[in-house]
Order: sequence, then structure tokens, then C-alpha cells
Amino acid sequence: MTPPPAARRNSTAARDVASVLHPYTDGRAHQKNGPLVITKGKGVRVWDDQGREYIETVAGLWCASLGFDNERLVQAALRQMRELPFYHGFTGRSHEPQVELAEMLLERAPVPMSKVFFANSGSEANDTAVKMIWYFHNAQGRPQKKKIISRIKGYHGVTVASASLTGLPYNHKLFDLPIAGILHAGTPHHYRNARPDESEEAFATRLAEGLDAMIVAEGPETVAAFFAEPIMGAGGVIVPPATYFEKIQAVLRRHDVLLVADEVICGFGRTGNYWGCQTFGIRPDILTCAKALSASFLPISAVLVNERVFEGLADGSSSLGTFGHGFTYSGHPVPAAVAVETLKIYDETDIVGHVRAVAPTLQDGLRERFGDHPLVGEVRGVGLIGAIELVEDKATKRAFDPARKVAIRLTRIAERHGLITRALPGDGLAFSPPLIISRAEIAEMLERVGRALDELAVELRRESLAVV
Ligand SMILES: Cc1ncc(COP(=O)(O)O)c(C=O)c1O
Repeated sequence: MTPPPAARRNSTAARDVASVLHPYTDGRAHQKNGPLVITKGKGVRVWDDQGREYIETVAGLWCASLGFDNERLVQAALRQMRELPFYHGFTGRSHEPQVELAEMLLERAPVPMSKVFFANSGSEANDTAVKMIWYFHNAQGRPQKKKIISRIKGYHGVTVASASLTGLPYNHKLFDLPIAGILHAGTPHHYRNARPDESEEAFATRLAEGLDAMIVAEGPETVAAFFAEPIMGAGGVIVPPATYFEKIQAVLRRHDVLLVADEVICGFGRTGNYWGCQTFGIRPDILTCAKALSASFLPISAVLVNERVFEGLADGSSSLGTFGHGFTYSGHPVPAAVAVETLKIYDETDIVGHVRAVAPTLQDGLRERFGDHPLVGEVRGVGLIGAIELVEDKATKRAFDPARKVAIRLTRIAERHGLITRALPGDGLAFSPPLIISRAEIAEMLERVGRALDELAVELRRESLAVV
């Protein structure tokens, strides 16, 4: 066999296959297929190393809220790197960017919060929240109150505790997860899980009763906290049914169970309010956020805690002489400065107002274009987050055989139509574009999705004819 020309052997793609172990990738398939190498971005678009242009329909990983270029953020990072490129927060050290960012977050929090702890990723923020909850209850003299409930299909990250909270099989299998003491409650997905003719309200009541029964069966004195995304993102873009959070919170209050809102995707305007908590009437004790916090120009995440939780943590740390938790880069000044600038841009450009103005183009557009499409079982979403769920039989909601990987095939076809898309478990396709997207860009995105979906329909029809 003649070896590939040197230029190809030395391509970024070939070097990638030879050297990079990819997150969330089939390692064997990657050896065969190689990477998609992205070389530049502008606005809602990115380009690959062959010069092909794509609309980024999921803002990278639901995160590049201001798109793929922003000179103000570049300058904010540069200024901070020149002034103070690193300092930490251990043993009471501090610096202006982390203080300013903490103040800004507390001013914007959906409910009164007391203090902000910084980390580097959504996973670290949720792991931190788990540790804080255990620490809090120990410090308060309730060492048995430790179990944590999240939900099947919830996504909270991949570090050991966060992956345990995550309710998806591929985050557990082969990893020996979840760890002990993590329970998963039912998924609030009306389309898939409601009984025939069950209203959203009745379905929400049943889920709340299920949660109540789970807490009672475990013993309320052993249940510490409940984690929830306002809208479940990576597990399927699942919008909770009407009255769900109201009823869930009543159960949590009854059993003195802390509520953690994971705002890693929903925070900073995604749902048409500053926080997903405001969209759904959620009043958390702890709030975690990341991603759009810095428009993803640099990694940073935050854990906001209310006064009650802070008091418990402060007492515990005082009894030991320190709070034995923290990352070298907790509150790193450069991402903190970029996050401060990001939040200023959100205010000055009224990003929430923009999302509200353009969201109908996405939500109505998805429903009008795809609601009747024979492959689409459900269209769902709020604000600038949405999804379509592909089904084999629309009338009976019968899903495709997972082995056919229909949604993954759609993402490949979509790539040929100039779209970077995201397949969801259960054969969904997610939409979570940069928050700066215009109406015209949404229309262009949906036009391309339509062409990709029609091409998939033709392929699937051809296959079923071949089977017959
Ligand atoms: C809701 C939610 N929480 C947590 C995480 C984990 O964040 P990270 O990937 O930054 O660790 C994600 C990532 O997509 C997420 O969507």
C-alpha cells in the first residue's frame, strides 16, 4: 500500500487521530473517520479546515452565547493578563475581578443569595455543591442527612459526583457509577411519560407524588438535596410540564430537602429570562452556573449559596480551621475579568430582551416547519432552546430502533448542509444557538435543517423499501 502523501500524514486531522483522546467520542469510529477540524469562527458561524462554513446550531456545547468572536472579551482578557495573570483565593487571598464578578452574580441572582464560590467547569460546580451539602449537614449535626436526588435523563456533568447525578446510562456504564447515596427520580417529559389523556398538571402531580414517596421510603432524615436543571438539556431538551416545579418544591420544603438549580445551560438568558429559575418559578438554595457566564471564551463556573447554607459552611470551616475545598484556579483573575465583561455586554445589549424578541422565530419556526413532518414526533422548547424528536411512527410515537442511530445520521447529513448540530438521546436534535443569533440567521438555520431532514426521510424510505 502506498503511504498517504506527507501533507495528509501531517494534517491536523491525522495528527489528531494519532494523539488526541477525545471527550464524548467513539474511540474506534474516530480512528476510522477522523475529526472535524474547526479553524475559525465569526458570529453564529464556524469554518472547517476545508473552508466550509457552518451555522453552529448549539453554540458549541450550549455555551458560546456571544458567538465566535468578540473583541471586548479579547481586550478584557489581555488587560487582565497584563495586570495580574494569576492569583488564587486560598487562605483568604483575593483580587478585584473575582470580587466584582461575585457582586455582579449576587445582584443578578433569581433569589437572595449570600456568597459565590468559583470553579472551572459545570461539573466542578456541581461536585462542589454536593460536597457543600454533605459538609453543611455534618456541620449542622445531621450526619445521616446525605442522600441526593436528581432525575433520570438529568445532566450535571462528568466528574465522579456530577456523573453520578447525571441520569444517563453512558455516563455510568463501565465507570462503576453512580456512587452510593444518589437516587434518580422520574423524568418530567409529558410527551413520552404521561399516561394517555393525562394533562400536564396531572402528570406533574404524579411526579411530585412519586418524589414524595421516594423521600418517605428512604426516610426524610436521610435525604439532603434535590438537583434539577430548569430545562433538561443534554438529556433531551425536556421542558417541564405546567406546575411541575411548584409541586416539586412543596415536597422538598415539606421534608427539609435543599434545592440545587443547575443553571449551567439555562442561565444568562437562554430561556427568555436571565435565569431558568425565573421562567419556572424555582427558588433554589444553591445555584450552579458556567458556560455563558464567560460566553465560553475562558473556563469558569460559579456556585451561589444562600445565607443558611453559607452559615453552615462557615461554622464547619471554623471548627476545622479551614474549608478544605478549592481549586488552584478558583476565581482565576483572567476568566473572572472576561466573565465580568460578558455580564456587562449582556446588560448593555439587553441580551434577555433580544432572546425574547427572536425566540418566536425559533419556536414558531420549529413548530410550523416540522410539527407536521412525518419524521417528527414532538417539537419542544422555550426561548432559544429547542428540540425535535424523531419517530418511526408519528401516530403511535414509536421510536426508531436505537441501533439505526437515526439522529446521528441526521447530524451527518446536516453537516453537508452547513450545520453543526447535536443529536440527543432518544433520537432528538437540539437547538441552542448563540444568544446573539438574528431572526434571519434562525430562518437560514431552519431552512438548512428542513433540507437535511428531507434528505434523511428519502434515505429512510429507500431503506424500508429495500427491506420490503
Ligand atoms: C446542565 C449542565 N450541568 C453541568 C454540565 C457540565 O458542565 P461541564 O461540561 O462544563 O463540566 C453541563 C454540560 O453540558 C450541563 O449541560
